[in-house]
Amino acid sequence: MPSERRGLTVSERVAEETGGPLVDSFGRVHDNLRISVTDRCNIRCFYCMPAGNVTFMPRAELLSFEEIERFVRLVVPLGVRKIRLTGGEPLVRRDLPRLVERLVAIDGIRDVGLTTNGVLLAEQAHDLFAAGLRRINISLDTLRRDVFARITRRDEFDRVVAGIEAARQVGFDPIKINAVSIRGVTDEEIVDFGHFARRTGLHVRFIEFMPLDADNAWERAKVFFAAEIIQRLSEAIMPLVPVHRSDPSAPATEYVFEDGVGRIGLIASVSQPFCASCNRFRLTADGKLRNCLFSLEETDIRALLRGGATDDEIRAAVRACIAAKREGHEINTARFIQPERPMYSIGG
Ligand code: 5AD
Ligand code: SF4
Repeated sequence: MPSERRGLTVSERVAEETGGPLVDSFGRVHDNLRISVTDRCNIRCFYCMPAGNVTFMPRAELLSFEEIERFVRLVVPLGVRKIRLTGGEPLVRRDLPRLVERLVAIDGIRDVGLTTNGVLLAEQAHDLFAAGLRRINISLDTLRRDVFARITRRDEFDRVVAGIEAARQVGFDPIKINAVSIRGVTDEEIVDFGHFARRTGLHVRFIEFMPLDADNAWERAKVFFAAEIIQRLSEAIMPLVPVHRSDPSAPATEYVFEDGVGRIGLIASVSQPFCASCNRFRLTADGKLRNCLFSLEETDIRALLRGGATDDEIRAAVRACIAAKREGHEINTARFIQPERPMYSIGG
């Protein structure tokens, strides 16, 4: 049947003509690309970065905004619809709003989001919003200044709080707060975060601590599990009821307190892996394509971009990368191998 009669949009038709969407060998369709714009960061969260002696990527190794834009334009015909900018800390990359502008202008991109630690957000919230960004996730693992300094090895709590406030005032919606769930470190504040979500209307999402730390100190015993979080919140505040999932690929399971006030998300990456519905792949700041946070292999897109490859050649490399995706991350098996790149150099 001709594609027009099946009511396909122009970009869906192009996807068909260039070989259809990005499907892996398990039938998962990949429409969600996370782009890291830098591996640098202005804080040093222990679950992501080493305390000292970090070697960052040399500037020349980072993809330019032009290169990123070219890449995004050439994967849109393969069905990519959602983009999230990450780091390191993306706001330390100079002129980030200029990249946002370029990306939101691409026909076929429906959604551009940003994940930031919030330190520079008060200064940049307005320009980011003006550039067309609407969805923002801010990482904040604790509501206490001293604990923040211990986790991040930097005293930037007040700036993050100011950043969250600026994002609210500028009109970002939704604003999600990401809190990494670590036994013995952040579990004490689960209930405080529950009250925080109720008081502020911000979505609080707990992310189980994953083995992506630079110090290789992760152990299963250090993960405070999603089920324990639900239990603690339900007992201390009131029962949580699940919210209907509008996006079946979203990693967070969403809940709301029984009285309708306060939204909580749980990203149970370790205790209830969501690999089976994964639609995500990642481009690192130095232009390597990864089909999974935990993948051990990468595809060198930068070499293709800088080596004169045609769009079709690059698309073929993207397809091959997705086709080779493993079924899941295997954190819960003895086979698990932690990737060489820690979180800050992959992009969360
Ligand atoms: N485990 C779980 N979450 C992590 N993040 C960074 N490192 C880890 C880790 N080892 C979080 C950040 C950010 C999100 C993208 O990932 O705090 O909010
Ligand atoms: Fe920086 Fe984010 Fe890593 Fe923390 S988790 S050190 S904010 S990149």
